[in-house]
This record gives sequence, structure tokens and C-alpha cells, in this order.
Amino acid sequence: MNDETTAVPTDAEARLLVHRAGRTPVYAYSRSALGDAVARVRAASPRGAGLYYSLKANPYPGVVNALAPLVDGFDVCSLAEMETALNAGTPPDRVLFTGPAKSRTQAAAALAAGVAVTVESPRQADLFAETARELGVDGHGVIRLNVPYPGRTPDADPSPNQFGVAEEDLAEVVRVLRASPVSIRGLQLFWGSQYSDPEVVLAARKAVTERARAVVERFGLTLDLVSIGGGIAMRWRDRDPAVDWSRLAETEDAHRTPETEDAHRAPEAAGGRLPLVCEYGRSLAGPAGSLLTTVLDTKTIGDRRYVLVDAGMNDLLLASRLLSGGDRGELRVRVVGGEGRPLVRHVHVTGPLCSQLDVLAEDIELPEVEPGDLLLFPGVGAYGPSFSPGGFLSRDKVREIVF
Ligand SMILES: Cc1ncc(COP(=O)(O)O)c(C=O)c1O
Repeated sequence: MNDETTAVPTDAEARLLVHRAGRTPVYAYSRSALGDAVARVRAASPRGAGLYYSLKANPYPGVVNALAPLVDGFDVCSLAEMETALNAGTPPDRVLFTGPAKSRTQAAAALAAGVAVTVESPRQADLFAETARELGVDGHGVIRLNVPYPGRTPDADPSPNQFGVAEEDLAEVVRVLRASPVSIRGLQLFWGSQYSDPEVVLAARKAVTERARAVVERFGLTLDLVSIGGGIAMRWRDRDPAVDWSRLAETEDAHRTPETEDAHRAPEAAGGRLPLVCEYGRSLAGPAGSLLTTVLDTKTIGDRRYVLVDAGMNDLLLASRLLSGGDRGELRVRVVGGEGRPLVRHVHVTGPLCSQLDVLAEDIELPEVEPGDLLLFPGVGAYGPSFSPGGFLSRDKVREIVF
């Protein structure tokens, strides 16, 4: 079940974590696994590129505080995420406020805080220009360019998306910002998520780096940040391919160009090289988190053995049928203390919600369990509580701890 990158607490640790949390369900994030993930992902990124963590993957303050000394900055999407990043002691110029359609309130808050903002259309450029004038502040703009997301394999078709500035609007956005108190500080070329194939990752990085270079030359820009996305997958289902980290690092080595050499750490010494930054969410937080849940009941209906637990899709939407439309891989799961117990087939692990969609694992083999047993789902540290319909049935919010 395990791969070397996913943190899996031992049975003894799992029991103590539940005592520490006071109840289940609880997400437990390993501080050392977060550190390991940062080191692994950095080694698989262009050498010298800055590493930003995207709070959208997991905005839990304990996780953000643990990552703050290890990463070079944060990508945030709301006022609350911005406060979490700033409260971790991050200098505002290391925070990037992203999102395709920012409100006037968000624009004012980001400008007042002095964080950089992505600008994703001519109208949004006008909004930031006007708001900066009203507030009497200088702003830091990062123009997000629209980039189609590549297919999962090198020969698959890219898919279109709504993010960023269209090529034909770019000159207008540059014109509006240049005539405003908002300086053009950077470019963002995010190109998608959950890619396991290193060839796709490397080709995407190369393509967006070349495009950024062309834009810099066309407009004569001097930048201190060129974000070229992240895209590396997390492995949270049993059928997900493992990312070949060593191959990615090796291949990255072979693809190294003067442009990527020490680009972030020493931009002034880099002779006009692009100050690259990579933005990652899931590959940093995913492997570090486990969900612990208590078995509340078991029953057999027809040939199915149901194991009913206190965590549901309100805590972990990724697991539900709703998201994967029936084509769901199974979450990896372990029974705490289950070693040596007889295996039961056709087990369906279901949550406490009144919905047929509330299924955490379907038709799997699992050691025999009884009410009170703990189940542990490893590798689910990203897109958990913040990506789940926590309001459904007005249940208590899932607990989260860092250990
Ligand atoms: C702009 C941006 N940055 C970063 C991320 C984080 O991506 P991931 O979790 O795939 O690493 C996303 C994901 O949607 C994104 O849209």
C-alpha cells in the first residue's frame, strides 16, 4: 500500500494522534513529511527556481506555519488565505494573490497588504489600476498568461481554460498597468495539475519558459518573478502511478539551460535570466497527511460488507463518487491494529451522511473490523477539508493537527 513518499503513521502513533486530537475524524499532518516533500519537489524542479506553496491545497495554519521556513513564498486565493500566509511571518513581497476574477474588496485588501496580485484580463487590470489610485499605494502586478493545459500523456490534446490574459489582450493589459501605480513585477504561466509523466512536466516547463522569454523581449519587461507552475501529481488512490522522482530530477538535470541556472536565488547575477518560481500544492501537502476515522458500525447486505465510519465526503470529497463520476480509484486504507486479522472481501467503507455518494472505498479487501476500530487513509493531505462540502448536514468540522 505504501510508497516511499507517503507518510504513514504507525499503529501506536495513530492511536496517540487520536487521543491528542480528542476525537475522530482527524487529519494528521506530519511535519517531517512536509519537509521531505519540499526537498523532493525542489530537487525535481529547475535548479535555483523559487518554490511557492499554494494554500488552496491545504490552508490549515499549522501546515502553512510548518512550510513557511522551507519555501520561498505562498500563492493565496482569498483574504483568509492571505492572512494565514502573512501570519506565518511571510514578507508581503513573497505572497502572490491569484485567481481569475478578483473583487474590488479583494483588490483593495491585496494592495493594502502590499502583496503581489495576478492580473488576468484588461478589465481586471483597470480594477487594480483604479483601486491603487484610490488607496494611494503602489501595487505589484503579475500578469497571468492564458496557457492551455497539456494532456496527461505527451501525445494527448491540450485543454482550454478560462485563466489568464488572452494573447490578443496582452498589449492592452501592459498599457493599462504601465499607465498606473501598479508595476509589472512578474508573469505567471500556470499549466495544470496532477501530472505523473515527467516528459509532460518537462515539456510544459520548457514551453512556458520560452513563452515567458518571448513576452519579456516583446515588451522589454524587467521582472523579479516568472512563475512556471508546478503540476506534479500526488498519489492518493491505489491505482495512481507513482511519480518517478529520480527520473524527473535526472531529466531535469539534462534539460538544464543557462536560463534555469540559479535563476531565482541570484537574479541580479544571472545576466538577464528569468527569475523562475514553481508553484506547488498537492505534491507538498498530499503525502504528509492521513485521515483517521472510527468504525461506528458494520453490516452485511446481500454480498456486500459495509463498514460505516465517522468520516465522510464532507471531510474528503476527493474520495466520493460525486467527483469521479463512478470512475473512482480506491483510496488506500489501513486498519489500525489490523495486522494478522482475517481478510474480508467485498468491503464498502461508507461515511455517516445520508447520501449514496458517501463512499470512501468500494469493494475492497480489508482485515475484519468492529465498532471502535480506527481506519487510516494515508496520502490525503491535500484538497481535504477545504475542498469538501463541510456544510452538508451541518456536522462538526473535521479536526486537523500537525505532528
Ligand atoms: C494558479 C495555481 N497555482 C497552484 C496550484 C496548485 O496546484 P497543485 O495542487 O496541482 O500543485 C493551482 C491548482 O489549481 C493553481 O490553479
